[in-house]
Amino acid sequence: MSSADYSLQGRLAVITLNNPPVNGLGHELRSGIMAGLEQAAKDGAVKAVVVIGSAKAFSGGADIREFNTPKSSATPTLHQIIATLDAMQKPVVAAIGGFAMGGGLELALACHYRIAAPRAQLALPEVKLGILPGAGGTQRLPRLIPVADALRMIASGEPVPSEKGKTLGLVDELADAAGSDLLAAALAYADRLIAEGKGPRRIRDMTARVDNAAQFFERARAETAKASRGYPAPLEIVTCVEAAVSKPFDEGIKVERARFEHLVNGTESKALRHMFFAERQTSKIPDIPEDTPVRPIKRSAIIGAGTMGGGIAMCFANAGIPATLIDAKQEALDRGLETIRKNYAGTVSKGRLKQEDMDKRMTLISAALDYASVKDADIVIEAVFERMDVKLEVLKRIDSIARPGAILATNTSTLDVDKLAASVSRPQDVIGTHFFSPANVMRLLEVVRGAKTAKDVLATTMKLGKTLRKVAIVSGVCDGFIGNRMLEKYVQQALFLLDEGATPQSIDGALQKWGLAMGPFTMYDMAGNDIGWEVRKRRALERPDFVYSKVADRLCEQGRYGQKTGRGWYRYEPGNRKPIPDPEVEQLIAAYRKEIGIAPRAIADEEIVERCMYALANEGANIIDEGIALRASDVDMVYLTGYGFPPYRGGPMFYADTVGLANVLAAIERFGKGYQGGTWKPSPLLAKLAAAGKTFN
Ligand code: 3HC
Repeated sequence: MSSADYSLQGRLAVITLNNPPVNGLGHELRSGIMAGLEQAAKDGAVKAVVVIGSAKAFSGGADIREFNTPKSSATPTLHQIIATLDAMQKPVVAAIGGFAMGGGLELALACHYRIAAPRAQLALPEVKLGILPGAGGTQRLPRLIPVADALRMIASGEPVPSEKGKTLGLVDELADAAGSDLLAAALAYADRLIAEGKGPRRIRDMTARVDNAAQFFERARAETAKASRGYPAPLEIVTCVEAAVSKPFDEGIKVERARFEHLVNGTESKALRHMFFAERQTSKIPDIPEDTPVRPIKRSAIIGAGTMGGGIAMCFANAGIPATLIDAKQEALDRGLETIRKNYAGTVSKGRLKQEDMDKRMTLISAALDYASVKDADIVIEAVFERMDVKLEVLKRIDSIARPGAILATNTSTLDVDKLAASVSRPQDVIGTHFFSPANVMRLLEVVRGAKTAKDVLATTMKLGKTLRKVAIVSGVCDGFIGNRMLEKYVQQALFLLDEGATPQSIDGALQKWGLAMGPFTMYDMAGNDIGWEVRKRRALERPDFVYSKVADRLCEQGRYGQKTGRGWYRYEPGNRKPIPDPEVEQLIAAYRKEIGIAPRAIADEEIVERCMYALANEGANIIDEGIALRASDVDMVYLTGYGFPPYRGGPMFYADTVGLANVLAAIERFGKGYQGGTWKPSPLLAKLAAAGKTFN
């Protein structure tokens, strides 16, 4: 049973939090802490108390899994523990090793003194979960450290190392070392406090002050409103910190409590908490135990020095793994290396990378015209042109040179990985690694598991994903895998909406207002409309039954490929990426409507959002049903990390859950009776869950 341990060290009581892995303040641990405090208060021989966690974690905060369940309010609550600390007549020292986060730091702030190990991380990261510190953090921190620093810490959620905490006054003492030495230092510190006659020092009795408070908070509110569209927590945080300055402590706590309750029951916070756990689920693969031995990856080779190949090489170099870029043409290699250099130089000029680190990374990337260096690589990733015949030829060459046991990865976004694997002598070593462009920036990595992919190859690639700082998500083999297969249904609806009367700007505008980073037409202009055109031409042969609006083809026939040609769904001024609505495009769409005999109608934003989002969720449901995705939250993570989906909506499947699956199903059935209604087929999984009143997640 997870709890807290109580022990005596002479005249000092030690309460050790013991709830691995992060000392989350779940009900049992809270009970243990409370019992320890009561015992220490009662024992006349105890003169001071030390509260300590493990070397890794003082505490990661409230147990997020308990939120919105009766356990979160089961006594003793964190508030009751904190009230007990306030009432303690003996000094209590928090000894912080590893990290103190959220409720963990609030617990430490309610203790009377704080000693921390070197480089311990202190944070109130609640804002990242769509909430605010609800156990006094917004009232105590601004009373302890300068108000501007407190507001920054709470509104950003970013950690402060203990060394900076000492400068700010958040930490009273820095220990020389962590682990058992931290306990020894904390005991010595508590002894010293007793010797110096120092009693409890309560932050609640201190005052939070800031010059020109009204002006300070007005500015903070304006800046926060601008930076946090769609996220209610940051503005509520400003309100709470203002209360810390303007109201007595107990009044401020009431403000904090009310704002916390409001946020914790809101959809945005539920979505962000879903994302927190969804991200941690992605690496769990039911038939592959977490301790599966992985193959060492010490060197990589990437075939193709284009945008993707270069971006992938940067990912390896960033992780300290040497990468050889291979291309048949010297110009391609030169251009590829130059682009990489420019990318790094841009980051250096923005102050986000040191010149010496750039130099180190550049030395990790080498270039070669022949395949000889493939034989030294532990993983070879082909990133050549997206055509089956081209990729088949490249894979065969790799197969003839790569050493036994090397992973042969294909960076395809749509092609059949099983067919590619069947072309080599070692299909068990073949896997898909679908990086998203720009590969050195985007977090998503779809890892495509072929029918014959060996378990250790999958485990190794998933681990490599983490090393490359990606969110790696397993997908089965199908056309477009998870993300692009869903995208096809979404774009299909967006184009039908054009047929019916919408414009690129009305569709993009509605979806952006709803929260997407960009709408489909802006996105395609950026990526290049000719790419989708190529795919549609292939589809026309492979799947003649696939119905889509030909309006996009008309656009491409005019050479309107997007930003790169200065004209696409929008027009662009030279050197400027801002999309400008173009009457010529509206004429082109109007002409197409005439051709197919459609009279345009006014389409509300709500319909645009419903059609596009439910198209995503419906196809996502098919993908889960067919076992292509392991779980609904993986589908959500694909969209959250690869397609600019707003975190506060939780992903397409979570969003459908919040709308209610019966409502989503009813809307899909309604769309089925409208324009191109035959393209809507409710997913059997959606229908089943809706009938049972269940959710995807
Ligand atoms: N509640 C419940 N579970 C938690 C948790 C928490 N606060 N923090 C971490 N976990 C779980 C993770 O889900 C994971 O579970 P799994 O092994 O089953 O997947 C496990 O603990 C380990 O977590 P990580 O893989 O993230 O471990 P790391 O060592 O990489 O990171 C961490 C540790 C920095 C603490 C990171 O987990 C983290 O950022 N946690 C969230 C911290 C946070 O937001 N705290 C505030 C909570 S809200 C609060 O306190 C409200 C209060 O104001 C009233």
